[in-house]
Amino acid sequence: MTVSRTASMRTASMRTGGTRIQHQQQRLGDQCRSRTGGVRTPQASSPRFGSSKRGNMVSCGAAKVAVLGAAGGIGQPLSMLVKMLPSVTELSLYDIQGTPGVAADLSHCNTACKVKGYVGDEELAACLEGCDLVIIPAGVPRKPGMTRDDLFNINAGIVKGLAEKCAEICPNAILNIISNPVNSTVPICNEVYKAAGVTGASRRILGVTTLDIVRSNTFLAEECGVDVDEVDVPVIGGHAGITILPLLSQMRPKVSLDPNRIEELTVRIQNAGTEVVEAKAGAGSATLSMAYAAARFAESCLRGLQGDKVYECAYLESNLVDGVGYFASKVQLGPNGCEEIFEVGEVTEFEQAGIDALVPELQKSIAKGEEFAKK
Ligand SMILES: NC(=O)c1ccc[n+]([C@@H]2O[C@H](COP(=O)([O-])OP(=O)(O)OC[C@H]3O[C@@H](n4cnc5c(N)ncnc54)[C@H](O)[C@@H]3O)[C@@H](O)[C@H]2O)c1
Repeated sequence: MTVSRTASMRTASMRTGGTRIQHQQQRLGDQCRSRTGGVRTPQASSPRFGSSKRGNMVSCGAAKVAVLGAAGGIGQPLSMLVKMLPSVTELSLYDIQGTPGVAADLSHCNTACKVKGYVGDEELAACLEGCDLVIIPAGVPRKPGMTRDDLFNINAGIVKGLAEKCAEICPNAILNIISNPVNSTVPICNEVYKAAGVTGASRRILGVTTLDIVRSNTFLAEECGVDVDEVDVPVIGGHAGITILPLLSQMRPKVSLDPNRIEELTVRIQNAGTEVVEAKAGAGSATLSMAYAAARFAESCLRGLQGDKVYECAYLESNLVDGVGYFASKVQLGPNGCEEIFEVGEVTEFEQAGIDALVPELQKSIAKGEEFAKK
């Protein structure tokens, strides 16, 4: 692996007293900076996520957000969490079914954000008009025995159609892609935007891998017996199977783990989606934890749009690693989407072997997405 980009270590905004979600984002920023020997921010207390009081949460402008696939298992709780963000003044809910009901239900929650439901192709343009951020969980979830790539043919078509409309109606909006397989659906969106003549969109088309970080933080906190609010594990590569690579050597706080446990925990993180699929026994995949993770990522994107420097991991077009044009890594979010892609940093032999193994997997998924988009 060659690192072709030098990390640009800027100072993160010193926000304290934000949501628990913000608190975690901020530590990822601390981690990026601390590798250059920067000063770490004192840890803030973690107020609850979900207060409608503006003083307790990010208050940044007046954003319009759309959720496409809003009536689904992820879409519904995600839409509720987005409605609770004080920076969001308009929330457009789109699906091929069910959004009038979801919108009516959410509209009774006493937050300032106005919610409107849109159903079917003919209403998609109105839903997207003027959007700053479009979140896409539309598609079918994984059933037991299915891999993420089994979903490809259905979800690829859904995402391609939605991306075409986004490129036409709100080409400057940030896209958060949740629909799997993310390793392929992000390249599909990029190809659609290129074909539509939208330039510079690749920094705004972001694959949501936040659930991998959320899971890693949870599992490592349990393993090490430390406060989950103190844990921060960067996860790189992609968002399926072995392409999910938690960098436990870069975990904060620094802990000493037995090499066998590192291997077992890495495998657990890579297969955590399957744990949920099997536990739900045919009733779908991760929805609530995914909604939580997607709301954290959406909030980070909105803070970035308002000029905050926010640190997350995301999967996007990137020349970070030789041989692949897309890669998940630590990024800094800002007014243009991803402002900075951070180098992978120092890794152990085990992690390097993980990178070497994931590259050919990613290559296949990226090529599959690009070919599909060009059909
Ligand atoms: N990125 C991640 O970490 C992650 C985690 C879990 C699930 N997922 C993926 O998210 C997607 C949604 O999962 P879910 O559990 O919410 O599924 P779900 O079936 O409960 O909901 C999907 C929704 O999409 C809607 N939909 C279908 N075609 C559409 C179209 N053309 N336009 C708009 N909406 C459309 C459906 O009507 C449904 O309401 C799946 O692809 C799943 O694999 C991603």
